[in-house]
This record gives sequence, C-alpha cells and structure tokens, in this order.
Amino acid sequence: MSEADLREVVAIESDIYPFPWTRGNFLDSVRAGYSVWVLRDAAAVLTAYSVMTVMLDEAHLLNLSVARSHQRHGLGWRTLEWMAEVARGHGAHSMLLEVRPSNASAVRMYRRYGFDRIGTRRGYYPAQSGREDALVLRISL
Ligand SMILES: CC(C)(COP(=O)(O)OP(=O)(O)OC[C@H]1O[C@@H](n2cnc3c(N)ncnc32)[C@H](O)[C@@H]1OP(=O)(O)O)[C@@H](O)C(=O)NCCC(=O)NCCS
Repeated sequence: MSEADLREVVAIESDIYPFPWTRGNFLDSVRAGYSVWVLRDAAAVLTAYSVMTVMLDEAHLLNLSVARSHQRHGLGWRTLEWMAEVARGHGAHSMLLEVRPSNASAVRMYRRYGFDRIGTRRGYYPAQSGREDALVLRISL
C-alpha cells in the first residue's frame, strides 16, 4: 500500500465498516513504515488490503479487509496467509489481532485458520449503542 492507493482503500473501508478507519489512519500507517499491503486483481482493481505491525517477535494484525463485491472468494484467507508469511519473514513467532464478536464470518475465518482466543478487551470498539468488546486472538507462527 502506498499513498496513491489510499483513495481506493478508503472507499472500500467506508463501504464495509460502520466505524471505518480514516484516510489519516491509513496515511499514518504507511508513513510509520507498518507492513501495509494491497491486493489487486488482473484488471488492477484493488480487492483487499491489510495493515500489520511487527514488534520484536510479535505481529499485530490491525486491519484486514476485502471489498464487498469480492468477499467470499477466498481473498480474505489468501491475504491472511500472506500476512502470516510476511510476519514470519520479519522474525515474528506469533500474531495477535482484535475482532468484534459480532463479526461472525471474520471470527470463523480466524478460528478456522488456527487462531485461539486469548482474551477480551472490554469496550474496545465504538458501537451503535455504547461500546463493543473485542476478542483478542493469537496464533503461533
Ligand atoms: C472477514 C473477511 C476479511 C473475510 O474475507 P473473505 O474474502 O470474504 O473470506 P474468504 O472467502 O477468504 O473465506 C470465506 C470462507 O472460506 C474459508 N476459506 C477460504 N479459503 C480457505 C482455504 N484455503 N482453506 C480453508 N478455508 C478457507 C474461510 O474460513 C471462510 O469460511 P466460512 O464459509 O465458514 O465463512 C471479509 O469478509 C471482510 O473484509 N469483511 C468486512 C471487513 C471485516 O470484517 N474484516 C475483518 C475485521 S477483523
């Protein structure tokens, strides 16, 4: 992901999340040197993206998203595999992420991939009424 991708990334983000990251959140991630990736199809259409940090031997997956019209074709899984590969390449031995318990398809994908639940962060996410907890998931790489 580069700054030139952000218009497309932000359009997808705003379409698929009720509480989307802002352009500034992505720009900060790019400029901070996080591990930031986009997936484009053969026609160069941006279909998925992901943001991760790697600190010492632990990766933290901050965002993994697939454009609405491309969901459920294996791209989320493929992006997850790629991010795990990149994390291993940076020397990470584990990967952590937060996910909304209400996001059943995402939770199912992570659990099937091999993530275990290691905790809960209370009131981590904004929600339509009040706040929603986050499940904290971890996998050994
Ligand atoms: C959640 C999200 C990332 C999943 O990506 P996707 O491309 O739609 O999902 P995939 O097609 O890769 O996976 C769908 C299913 O196939 C499974 N699958 C895909 N490839 C697979 C493979 N090679 N081996 C085994 N299972 C596989 C997944 O586990 C999942 O199972 P399900 O049918 O029980 O749900 C995507 O829907 C999305 O961006 N949603 C909105 C944003 C979001 O919620 N992001 C995650 C926040 S933490």
